[in-house]
Amino acid sequence: MKKGKEVLYLSGADVRKIGLSMAETMEAVEQALFEKGRGNCQMPPKPGIFTQPDAFIHAMPAYIPALGAAGLKWVAGYPGNTRHGLPYLNGLLILNCPETGVPLAVMDCVWITAQRTGAVSGIAAKYLARQDSEVLAIIGCGVQARTQLEALALVRRLKVVKCYDINPGQTSLFIEEMKARLPHLEYVAAGSAREAVQEADIVVTATPILKEPRPPIELGWLKEGVLGLPIDFDSYWQPEAMQGCDKFYVDDENQFEYYRTLGYFRGAPKAYADLGQLVTGKVPARESERERIISMNLGLAIEDMATAIRIYQKALEQGIGTLLPL
Ligand SMILES: NC(=O)c1ccc[n+]([C@@H]2O[C@H](COP(=O)([O-])OP(=O)(O)OC[C@H]3O[C@@H](n4cnc5c(N)ncnc54)[C@H](O)[C@@H]3O)[C@@H](O)[C@H]2O)c1
Repeated sequence: MKKGKEVLYLSGADVRKIGLSMAETMEAVEQALFEKGRGNCQMPPKPGIFTQPDAFIHAMPAYIPALGAAGLKWVAGYPGNTRHGLPYLNGLLILNCPETGVPLAVMDCVWITAQRTGAVSGIAAKYLARQDSEVLAIIGCGVQARTQLEALALVRRLKVVKCYDINPGQTSLFIEEMKARLPHLEYVAAGSAREAVQEADIVVTATPILKEPRPPIELGWLKEGVLGLPIDFDSYWQPEAMQGCDKFYVDDENQFEYYRTLGYFRGAPKAYADLGQLVTGKVPARESERERIISMNLGLAIEDMATAIRIYQKALEQGIGTLLPL
């Protein structure tokens, strides 16, 4: 590849073919969070444009010197897309050479986003879930739900997955697909969100992000010792449920506070700490079996760049992708 003269284009199929495992992704993402915890990353809070109600297109730039990863993800989330057979989330990621700034690669970001979001939940659970966590509730059985389960199954000996989706067809598809991939788990299609959440040790919510949510999860649904992992902001968690938990982590405090200025998280408590502080040991992880903990992970550009640089390196090694002239 002639740097500065060519760019490597990786389609969604190319990115998937590279086969970066969830364990490798978690390692890369934890490195990125560690660097963030030591103050060694650049990541301005993501600006966005809002073209439709509840839709967004975000610019997510980041630089992680220790990984040699610099770039930008330009990602859209459109809740109505599924009606047109298009993914809710879609977009592109550009990797730049940190020394010269020239673009090295342009790649589809759908798989990367799902993979790294699962990885972050896995890392949060590694530090914050009870060691004996066995029952996982997943609310919203779409694209993200799959990688959430994959990552969480790597860090805890899960036995039961309770699934709920507003569209029962989605729940069935999810169970069918995940049974083939993780056959040792028992899958239960819950009749309601409450039924899924009540006995769960870990609760993932992965429904569409809503600007004016009517969140169902109440504090009383959450058992002692639970870990909540919302990836859909506060769309599913009542303010009292978030405030009633013992610790409320976020992935990045700046970004969390920035979103408040946009009108999200009006009922959420102040963050106890962020994941960078957690993985560098600057703040404690779980301190008792009884604590109810939430880790509100909004999605960070450093997670994308840490994953994308590995994808790029493997693509070069494996000869995958199309070189395009600049
Ligand atoms: N925090 C992050 O880093 C991050 C990263 C990627 C995606 N996300 C968010 O994760 C969420 C899910 O994304 P996705 O790509 O899986 O979308 P998706 O469309 O593939 O899946 C969403 C699922 O939620 C279901 N659903 C909708 N309303 C529901 C409700 N009220 N109760 C239960 N289920 C409901 C839908 O039927 C669908 O199956 C989105 O909000 C997205 O913005 C967050």
